[in-house]
Amino acid sequence: MSEIDLSVNVGSLKLKNPIMLASGTVGYGNEISEFIDLSQVGAIITKSISLKPRKGNPPQRITETPSGMLNAIGLTNVGVEEFIKTKIPFLEKLNSTLICNIAASSIEEYVECVEILDSQESIKGFEINVSCPNVREGGLIFGNDINMVGKITKKVRAKTSKPLIIKLSPNTSNIFEFAKVVKKEDGDAVSAINTLVGTSFNIYTRKPKIKNITGGLSGPAIKPVALAKVLEISRNVDIPIIGIGGIMDWNDVVEFMIVGASAVQLGTVNFINPKASIEIIDGLINFCKQTSLNKISDLISSRILE
Ligand SMILES: Cc1cc2nc3c(=O)[nH]c(=O)nc-3n(C[C@H](O)[C@H](O)[C@H](O)COP(=O)(O)O)c2cc1C
Repeated sequence: MSEIDLSVNVGSLKLKNPIMLASGTVGYGNEISEFIDLSQVGAIITKSISLKPRKGNPPQRITETPSGMLNAIGLTNVGVEEFIKTKIPFLEKLNSTLICNIAASSIEEYVECVEILDSQESIKGFEINVSCPNVREGGLIFGNDINMVGKITKKVRAKTSKPLIIKLSPNTSNIFEFAKVVKKEDGDAVSAINTLVGTSFNIYTRKPKIKNITGGLSGPAIKPVALAKVLEISRNVDIPIIGIGGIMDWNDVVEFMIVGASAVQLGTVNFINPKASIEIIDGLINFCKQTSLNKISDLISSRILE
């Protein structure tokens, strides 16, 4: 057993370590569980679930870009009913902290999803996706509207006492205003960030490489943007932040925690190295030993700006 305390709190959510697996990058846990022991990670966030099943966008849905990937999956998922029937039983056995991510195209749909899922004991919290850039209804239309984000937080809060995390869009000019409204409506934390809108064209066919034309950019290319957004929220709003965007190794995690993240999520790196989360946890233990840090939570917001 390590003498280093890696545990962190994200509002009322207690995690054994700050490493969470990001929504949409590990499905419902089943595929990645072939590579790693999921009970070792701080938490696993499910692919966004909506009330009814969604087919998502037509292919091509993913393309590689310099230092990242562009995806327009379009929230493909099995829907709440099937999720409870066929995915929860597997997730329950993992002995991992399970956070359910929800996407919707109306406030009522968010509320209904949370109402249905709240009674599932294995779900330890909700992450509300108001920021998917790849769907016509909901998605960025909600994520760019402060009143809407406030209303969604308030209505969902009324339906659950479990930790409530709102996943913010970076495609706005003042992300801290959105974090402020989440705090005002009693959300426990914010996740920052979802993907950035991007596109890519084939120069010979002159057609977009992904069918949806635009998609969400993720991976190392977005890390400096994500860090700046976390810092902006941290300097302006007293609310726990989960940092997301281009984290590839333990150094990145330390950087996100220093600027203000209480925990982080790993996304694109899971496609490159499915064992990355475990390697990062080991790297963090070594870093703490090297720098005589007994508690990793001491890193949170420990930045020095001058
Ligand atoms: C293929 C793919 C699918 C994603 N699906 C979802 C999703 O269903 N819901 C969601 O909230 N975020 C989704 N995301 C966004 C990630 O959770 C994360 O916010 C983003 O990828 C940035 O982190 P990264 O740079 O570490 O990948 C998806 C990302 C990728 C690459």
